[in-house]
Amino acid sequence: MNNETLTAFKEMQKQSWGLFAPLEIVTTMCAASLVNFSCIKKNDAVLDVGCGTGVVAITAARAGAKVSALDLSPTLIEHARKNVSIANVAVDLRVGDVESLPYPDNAFDAVLSQFGHMFAPRPQIAIQEMLRVLKPGGIITFSTWPPDLFVGKLFHLVAKFLPPPEGISPPPLWGNPNFVREQLGNKVQDLIFDQSMMKFPALSLGHYRQSVESTVGPVLKFVQESQHDLIRLNQFRVELEALASQYYADNHIHQHYLMSRAYKI
Ligand SMILES: C[S@@+](CC[C@H](N)C(=O)[O-])C[C@H]1O[C@@H](n2cnc3c(N)ncnc32)[C@H](O)[C@@H]1O
Repeated sequence: MNNETLTAFKEMQKQSWGLFAPLEIVTTMCAASLVNFSCIKKNDAVLDVGCGTGVVAITAARAGAKVSALDLSPTLIEHARKNVSIANVAVDLRVGDVESLPYPDNAFDAVLSQFGHMFAPRPQIAIQEMLRVLKPGGIITFSTWPPDLFVGKLFHLVAKFLPPPEGISPPPLWGNPNFVREQLGNKVQDLIFDQSMMKFPALSLGHYRQSVESTVGPVLKFVQESQHDLIRLNQFRVELEALASQYYADNHIHQHYLMSRAYKI
């Protein structure tokens, strides 16, 4: 992948994630699970990577941590600022890229990411950066979507209809424990995994589809690009609803995910 392709891809990501804010209502619940799983303590210096509207950052700040948070999307960082103000906590918010973190080496006791760093196109660069800013003995924790479960399959479906540029790593790889183990390598110890579930409320499959089409970066991008090809768009919609129907019960889509945690050596 050349520099031009990479820059264009990141610009596209920055734009397409900008409308994610309405989904903070569902990621708020998972933020508590990730913060609990990360075992952070009062006064720990914590970084939330791919923070979106700040749900993890604010949860950690409410637990007494000194929190910094970063996201590629300036629109989401603006939204996060409002959330920080409403929650009446302090969080150092910045627009930035997980592949080039604007923090010194060994700055944080904990680095967290909830469905965030998995979208960086170059996993090794992202994880090296997250480990670089983490103190030795510090904890790295992230939540990711497994490839064989619903959201991983959804991203696979989007990639089938709108293939990413060559060389871009598929985000759901980060939901595979073997991939996580391989990426963290011998730079960490005591790697453990857990599973949790996000319940996404939806009045019907059509409501679910409309919601993700207007908020989830890669889905939104495909729908925007397909306005001139309604047959293709319709085919995508049929497949999306068929997939979602397998996970739909009691007015919720049940979205299982993986949590990973390890200590930097
Ligand atoms: C699924 S959203 C999750 C947001 C938030 N963590 C939450 O749980 O609500 C993915 C987030 O990752 C961010 N993101 C994608 N690529 C990124 C990158 N290279 N660097 C930093 N953030 C990135 C997006 O802008 C978006 O806010």
